[in-house]
Amino acid sequence: MNGDLPIGVFDSGVGGLTVVRSLRESLPHESFIYLGDTARVPYGTKSPATVVRYSLNNARFLLAQGIKMLVVACNTASAHAIPALQKELSIPVVGVVEPGARAALSATRNGCIGVIGTYGTVESGAYQKAISELRDKLRVAAEPCPLLVPLAEEGWLTGDVPRLVATEYLGRLHARFPEADTLVMGCTHYPLFRELIAEVTTDLFGREVALIDSGIAATAEVAHLLRRREMEAPGGVSGTLRVMVTDKSRIDIVGTRFLGEALTEVSSVDVTA
Ligand code: DGL
Repeated sequence: MNGDLPIGVFDSGVGGLTVVRSLRESLPHESFIYLGDTARVPYGTKSPATVVRYSLNNARFLLAQGIKMLVVACNTASAHAIPALQKELSIPVVGVVEPGARAALSATRNGCIGVIGTYGTVESGAYQKAISELRDKLRVAAEPCPLLVPLAEEGWLTGDVPRLVATEYLGRLHARFPEADTLVMGCTHYPLFRELIAEVTTDLFGREVALIDSGIAATAEVAHLLRRREMEAPGGVSGTLRVMVTDKSRIDIVGTRFLGEALTEVSSVDVTA
């Protein structure tokens, strides 16, 4: 396998740029091609079959660009499509659910883990299954927090409105599962609310709840796989980032917020052609 090839990353939209941010910080020599399916976002409210079909379109498109590994940055796509992607692709496929589940296991002290995500992720039961299979006697409860996605895209990260929304959702989780000592932020958009979620959970649960960023957990998995399979990019030069989207509307404003650096060149592509 050619270590010089980029790593392909896809997400339903711009949210996966939070994962790219973490990947680029940890793996500065690696190059990345990011595909955001902004024309068909959100995936979180769509049926599993549709999400699998979109994920296969995205993966085939990235594969045709020449990539050495595929990272599924989207939690909803990871929850539904990893088996189909692994079956079709001969390169390594890394999703965010299993790394997020393992990170939660490392963090929990009492074995009680909460998960927040889109409707699709929560209803798939993927995190619940991945966590329960890691060790006996782990307890999991998951709560969908759909409104946090448009709030993040709007850049409405602080103030009364996001606090009220987060308090309502996390309050529902607390009512069902006050024992949780760890919370998986199982959606690309939620790390943008990290401080708010930390404050609200501390208020509701009356103690600090460990927050898990699945994207950061997946980054560690990618680094580990690159080393183990001897697929690392040669050192010495900085890696590059190519960003492609299926719809360019407002991408520069919204994308920059998620990536944490200016999004300069973005090309528009059709993954269904
Ligand atoms: N990227 C999605 C996820 O992580 C959130 C946005 C969507 O619903 O497509 O689940």
